[in-house]
Amino acid sequence: MTASDRPAETVIEVDTSAPGTAISPDLFGVFFEDLSHAADGGLYAELVQNRSFEYGPADRPEWHALTAWEPLERDGAAGSLTVSTIVPLHPANPHHAVLTTTATGTTGLGAGLRNEGFDGIAVRAGETYDVSLYARLADGSADRLVALIESRDGSRVYGRAELGPLTGTWERYATEIACEETDPDARFTVTATGTGTVHLDLVSLFPQATFRGRPGGLRADLAQAIADLKPKFVRFPGGCVAHGLGLANMYRWPGTVGPLPARRQMFNLWGYHQSMGLGYFEYFQFCEDIGAKPLPVVPAGVCCQNTHVTGQVGLPDEEMQAYVDEVLALVEWANGPADSHWGAVRAAAGHPEPFGLEYLGVGNEDVISDTFRERFARIHDALRDHHPEITVIGTVGPFPAGEDWEKGWAFARENDVPIVDEHSYKSPRWFLENTRRFDTMDREGPHLYIGEYGSGRNNGRSALAEAAYMIAMERNGDIVRLASYAPLLAKRDHVQWSPDLIYFDNTHVWPTLNYHVQRMHSVNSGDTALPVTVTGAPEAPPLPEGGRHGVRIGAGADTSAEFTDVRVGSSPATPDFADWHRESGSWEPDGEGGVRLTASGGEESALVLADAVDGPSYTFSVRARKTNDGEGFVIGFAATSPGNRYQWTVGGWQNRFTRLQRVDDGVAQDLTEPVGVPVETGRWYDLRVEVEGRRVRCYRDGLLIHDCEDVRSAPEVFAVSAVRDSATGDVIVKIANTTPEPVTSRLRLTRTGERFHRTTLTAPPDVTSRFEPAPATPAEDQLSGDVCEFPPYSFTVLRTLTGNDQP
Ligand code: AHR
Repeated sequence: MTASDRPAETVIEVDTSAPGTAISPDLFGVFFEDLSHAADGGLYAELVQNRSFEYGPADRPEWHALTAWEPLERDGAAGSLTVSTIVPLHPANPHHAVLTTTATGTTGLGAGLRNEGFDGIAVRAGETYDVSLYARLADGSADRLVALIESRDGSRVYGRAELGPLTGTWERYATEIACEETDPDARFTVTATGTGTVHLDLVSLFPQATFRGRPGGLRADLAQAIADLKPKFVRFPGGCVAHGLGLANMYRWPGTVGPLPARRQMFNLWGYHQSMGLGYFEYFQFCEDIGAKPLPVVPAGVCCQNTHVTGQVGLPDEEMQAYVDEVLALVEWANGPADSHWGAVRAAAGHPEPFGLEYLGVGNEDVISDTFRERFARIHDALRDHHPEITVIGTVGPFPAGEDWEKGWAFARENDVPIVDEHSYKSPRWFLENTRRFDTMDREGPHLYIGEYGSGRNNGRSALAEAAYMIAMERNGDIVRLASYAPLLAKRDHVQWSPDLIYFDNTHVWPTLNYHVQRMHSVNSGDTALPVTVTGAPEAPPLPEGGRHGVRIGAGADTSAEFTDVRVGSSPATPDFADWHRESGSWEPDGEGGVRLTASGGEESALVLADAVDGPSYTFSVRARKTNDGEGFVIGFAATSPGNRYQWTVGGWQNRFTRLQRVDDGVAQDLTEPVGVPVETGRWYDLRVEVEGRRVRCYRDGLLIHDCEDVRSAPEVFAVSAVRDSATGDVIVKIANTTPEPVTSRLRLTRTGERFHRTTLTAPPDVTSRFEPAPATPAEDQLSGDVCEFPPYSFTVLRTLTGNDQP
């Protein structure tokens, strides 16, 4: 219903006397992955970067064992800093620093090494920092170490401590430094007094003020921001980090629960290093600290299909039984008594009581191949036989539709997998168009974990679309058992995925609008979904089909490309492209009816012709050739406004795939499966698109590559759910009004005379924030009477104040 023919009043009726439908007690949780420096340099509060000297080219080509460290020869001291693997602290931790002092200098502090931290070391006056390291005196008299927290230029010392005397064997030394100044960009220094050679490893500086004061624990402000979401569960360690790039990069939990020197460090597929200081033990501990259930995800015996060259690979058959045993051992480690084999490992780490593991994810976004099926089935069968108390969560590929999704669901049904993990990174419009998709799902079949979702931006449009989608999940909380927005954290200057829920740097934490939506939902959950009837709700205007359509030609990231014979319908482009305009990158006509586009810096270069052709049916064709090693071409059409079009990317994703996508409000999403054809440099391609309303066909050199009917449903622009919280008797009604109009509603609850606590987040579509405070935060007030106005672009939670009068 449009604004003009809609009744003046919308009526929301909630049957509070109905028994309702029991919904999952664990619906809304969080997804944690070490991506965008979420762990090392982020949630894990260690301040020393590369503390174990294990960085190397596998992490990043230019990295080595002394990355983030520099040698020090101050005040006449002289010496050297090298790296050795002879007599390591632990085989899992092969490298250590070798510090040799030949002259101690005027202060007697000797030669040393200095760490830059993760983008500096943030310290605060009045706080105490734990210093620890492993050392052995290999030679000479340098048997005392001095640790300093100091300014970046070394001119001011904020705190000092001594460690030693050292012996000839590896030992751990620990002390603390009381810091006298606040500095967001300090440095940490260790020098050896006396001459001689000292071996050093696991050189660590931790604030004592970690979350819940746990030594070697988590950064308090970041952990608190997560805790404030009151998540019912925490999923970890990923994401793609869980299954890894190649078999050797799989995240194997046993290497992450023991003493730090024994932890198995490895490269992070997001382009840095995993110290594993934040390992399974710390994840479980954090879950317990915040009252969330742990939801670990173990690899399904296969690595990520995006592994360069090999693609998906399975563990060799002869290793599978040991791997199955490793998964079973996780349950014993988490839940077994302290005198069981793995329970004793947990107890030795400081947690004799079981952690109470209930859920276990197996696999992440894996291609549903035979390799996957065989390995998943072995793991699943073993868990069912040995640990029927554990709810296994399977995977249905990377997207909420398509080949792997269908195969994944079929496989899960055949194997009675209780829950499957579905991922949706989509546009805000997609989320609103899909709020009804759970209503018709088989109530008996596998249930759903929406393990990763996000609608493309940190703006009001996305936040409200997510609010509406969560309303849909709640209405279907009998089968949507769990859900977690992704990704959770991103650090300034290290953002590798966008959007994220919380942004941070070394001293700030910035929750986003999307975060506030998550929080409003999670702190207002219930256990029973109540029937709701909404009459007179606003409806979205239909999408324009005809009218004039714009077209676009583009060169992909870092690509130089030439385009010629550009034809829109039967009209060739003007020889000088004068009526086209530059959207990004640089361009120049070639003087012969063609144009050269050059993209640099990871961005694409694009030229746009608005109002190019009468829709809805026409052809758009172009000849294109790339002239460097960049990606390929990006062809846009059916553009009805800036940010809304179809898009055919030929040679995108590092020149690996062609994909047909729809772009809604600037957020692209796939319409077809990716096709793995790269673009050759120097070769001309004939690219032709045929548009017939919502039917799109894309041809490359006359070959049909994509043929798609873009079926769309009407978006639910005014979404409502109601739940009962039996513990308090409260009825909680949630309303997402994503329209530009205020909506006046009469609330009819079966029980009458209600007053409500009201929480409202008003977030216009284009207000946005990342490394700054969110442009809006939830407002609280009370509502009496039964008429409520829902502001334009708002998410409202109404919670009854009357309490326990449920039927
Ligand atoms: O959340 C970021 C990534 O998105 C995850 O690692 C992966 O599972 C998904 O593709």
